[in-house]
Amino acid sequence: MRATEELRWQALQAHAGRVERYRRGELSDDEFRPIRLSYGLYYQLDHTSHMQRIKLPGGVITAEQAEAMADIAEEYARGVLHVTTRQDIQLHWVALENVIPMYERLHAVGISTRGACADSVRNITGCFHSGLLDGEPFDVVPYVFALNEYFLFHPLNVTLPRKFKISFSSCAYDCVQGPVNDIAFYPHLRDGRPGFSVLAGGGLGAQPFLAKPVAEFVDAQDMLAIAEAIVRVQHRLGERKNRKKARMKYVVQRLGLENFRREVETTYAAVQKEMGARLRQELGELLSAYTPRKPQHPPAELPQQADGEFARWLKTNVFHQKQAGYFGLTVQLPLGDITSEQLRRLAALSREHGAGELRASNDQNLFLPWVPGNRVEAVWRALAEMELGAADALHITDVVSCPGADYCSLAVSRSMGMAEVLRQELAQAGSLIGDLGVFRIRISGCPNACGQHHVGDIGLTGMSLQEADGQHRPYYSLLVGARLGEEGAAVGKRVAGRFPAPEVPKVILSIAEFYRQERRGAERFADFVDRVGVERINQIARAAAPHVR
Ligand code: HEM
Ligand code: SF4
Repeated sequence: MRATEELRWQALQAHAGRVERYRRGELSDDEFRPIRLSYGLYYQLDHTSHMQRIKLPGGVITAEQAEAMADIAEEYARGVLHVTTRQDIQLHWVALENVIPMYERLHAVGISTRGACADSVRNITGCFHSGLLDGEPFDVVPYVFALNEYFLFHPLNVTLPRKFKISFSSCAYDCVQGPVNDIAFYPHLRDGRPGFSVLAGGGLGAQPFLAKPVAEFVDAQDMLAIAEAIVRVQHRLGERKNRKKARMKYVVQRLGLENFRREVETTYAAVQKEMGARLRQELGELLSAYTPRKPQHPPAELPQQADGEFARWLKTNVFHQKQAGYFGLTVQLPLGDITSEQLRRLAALSREHGAGELRASNDQNLFLPWVPGNRVEAVWRALAEMELGAADALHITDVVSCPGADYCSLAVSRSMGMAEVLRQELAQAGSLIGDLGVFRIRISGCPNACGQHHVGDIGLTGMSLQEADGQHRPYYSLLVGARLGEEGAAVGKRVAGRFPAPEVPKVILSIAEFYRQERRGAERFADFVDRVGVERINQIARAAAPHVR
């Protein structure tokens, strides 16, 4: 069913009716739960207010949408927005009586939160450099938008066994972390024709699985058909009774990869026979509805001379687009948070200097593309003025964390507190930060892995352990050297022992320093860990933590 404007509006009005019935006491909490989740509304820890998740396919945000979100965050949510690790934006402290006005205002700027939570296809992620990246096979953003539209009102989508995550990658860095998704698309050209290799069955949580190849090359025009086929397999074979075993990764485990692949192949053949031509036509229409935004100014080179903080920021936060003379600027958000006022000013900067577009990244930052080189310094000055001009994006200080005990009822540690301490302590590490280059620390407050610790260069998982005095105190376990990308993906390797929270910064600094000193050339951390072996890392870590258990 096509997600027309009329259908979106009707669905929203029907949802408003159900929210109203709950508020009048005509629906129980249990009855209302799946209803509110279907539009991305969670209970917050205090169970009186809510967290709203806003889906942003591919993380793409127009200036107009950014302004609308800034306004609603200010009016309904204490003026802070949080960029998540799947290119969503979340608002905390939303009151139930405000959700419908909020959805209506989002609707007016083309945003739907339908499917942001619940057992459905979640926000479809896409590489935030896509369309701008030198050497990319083709821009995947139009495909992200098309697939989002396709599933928005898809009948199977509301009755899936569990959440379902889809990503579109573009490059080896794999910011969207393809292998941890239910479906990961990787673009390729074969004899000049666009297509995708397709991996399926990934997912983190307490039992991580990495997606495995299910189709070597699917013509891009059959992208909807292959997605339809894989979703059908999960709909038919996914576990329905035990939610803990209901992700598609368990179907792959249960059937074995070969049988799972065969299921996908036969279902794909059936989909092709039944509606292949119609899906190709539908995809064609959806793709042609997408118009990439255009820069407002002619291209220009970067300034010849730069020094101090600006020079460093130029080196670490400025991306050279394939369109010569244009640059994409990474705006580093501490732990993914941005205020309404900052977002409004960023939107204005994108209108004034870029293409009126921002992108949210899985790294919990915002990205401002299409700035001509001669305007980059002016943008940096404006960013610095609003305290968003920090250099070293994606470096060791740019820590990613789940909400942890500050917001989450399942948490066993304050992962955000740990992240803040790490940011501050690592910021003192001087030249180490720049020498390491891109280096990702990811923290989860419990084994559920919302902070995606399995795929960080260093990943931390929080736990609470009882000490000799009978008190429970926070500890962390460490994983090192994960790999992403289409081939050879691997979760991090476990460092022996559990480390008391106050000793974690020193452990991380020691491992990082060891890497700096013994690294060969531009060797990546994952390769380094493989070469030196985890036992060496164990020794370094233990030496830095007198109270490791
Ligand atoms: C605040 C309350 C939250 C709760 C109670 C919660 C709960 C959970 C649980 C139980 C899982 C494991 C699911 C499974 O095994 O299939 C999970 C996974 C996950 N959550 Fe959360 N979560 C919360 C917030 C968040 C936030 C804010 C983010 C994003 C920044 C997030 C991102 C994720 C991710 C990426 C996964 C891994 C999913 C996968 O690929 O398998 N969560 N969450
Ligand atoms: S990883 Fe654990 S603590 Fe962190 S948000 Fe997820 S469920 Fe909560």
